Amino acid sequence: MENTKKRSFSAIQPSGTITLGNYLGAIRNWVNMQDDFECIFAIADLHTITVRQEPSALRKHSIELLAMLLAAGIDPEKSLLFCQSHVHQHAELAWVLNCYTQMGELSRMTQFKDKSAKHANNINAGLFTYPTLMAADILLYKADVVPVGEDQKQHLELSRDIAGRFNSTYSDTFVLPEPYIIKSGARVMSLQNPTSKMSKSDENVNGFIALTDDEDTIIRKFKRAVTDSETTVEYREGKYGINNLLNIYSAVTGKTVIEAAKEFSGKGYGDFKLAVGEAVAAHLKPIQERYKDYIGNKDYIVSVYTKSAGIASKIAESTLRKVYKKVGFLQK
Ligand code: TYM
Repeated sequence: MENTKKRSFSAIQPSGTITLGNYLGAIRNWVNMQDDFECIFAIADLHTITVRQEPSALRKHSIELLAMLLAAGIDPEKSLLFCQSHVHQHAELAWVLNCYTQMGELSRMTQFKDKSAKHANNINAGLFTYPTLMAADILLYKADVVPVGEDQKQHLELSRDIAGRFNSTYSDTFVLPEPYIIKSGARVMSLQNPTSKMSKSDENVNGFIALTDDEDTIIRKFKRAVTDSETTVEYREGKYGINNLLNIYSAVTGKTVIEAAKEFSGKGYGDFKLAVGEAVAAHLKPIQERYKDYIGNKDYIVSVYTKSAGIASKIAESTLRKVYKKVGFLQK
């Protein structure tokens, strides 16, 4: 039977802690998409070295991330899961796309601006051309949809622009990818500063929930979450802290934010924060239990990423060959 499923591609960086933001904004949706889409997932290790990494830590973080993705429910029988650096076509297509991307376009990327402010002593060329590598990741597989959190939207728009430019310069080569963003967890905010996104690089560990945080830690972090000086739990413009907690609660319980707010009407912030912490801890518990099994079984993880990389490489090679031909390289 012909495969009529749409194809989905996404990736995540092995840069350390995996946060509740990564989970609700991306990973959880990846898991849920596996029956309806042909899914391809990568550990974006090439992207990660745009910020200096300790080599042994990068290896460790990559294995931990793979174990966590399996624990969260990525099923290698249904989806591909591999390391970006194992499929050399990513770097090759990125080079070509660099030649079809303008400096001005890359300069406008907010992530570049943020990261170069944060790592002022290492504003390397890779950090600048990061979005063309991301475009290569997606376009190699002719992905129809890309499930990401809100923060990656600008990069996706650039990927579409690059793809459209290449297609109109030559002929139809790339599929223009659509962002696939599920509203309820699309932008999880810091628990300490609810106007900025929850990020693993937050210096204050109370700002983020790591997927490996134990129940006590999770509850303590939610209890300390910054809210406001009012007393009613309601979803309203300007109530950034409470809105964020309601969004998180809604994402892990499946209730709408309106239902969630109703549940806590008449109750204080203390009760509400405790309930959010408990709901998150309960949601993560089975994942954490499975994680313990996977992380102890490195051979299995290696077998998964090796097999997937072989399959991914064949798909990627077919696209890269077409691209090389179209730009005028002699054929091998
Ligand atoms: P990364 O590793 O920073 O994040 C992985 C995914 O988690 C989402 N995310 C969030 N969602 C909601 N709230 C938050 N606070 C939050 N923090 C992170 C991100 O949107 C992302 O979906 N450049 C990408 C990785 C990448 C990629 C790709 C993604 C490389 N190539 C191709 C899609 C397609 C990144 O750094 O994600």
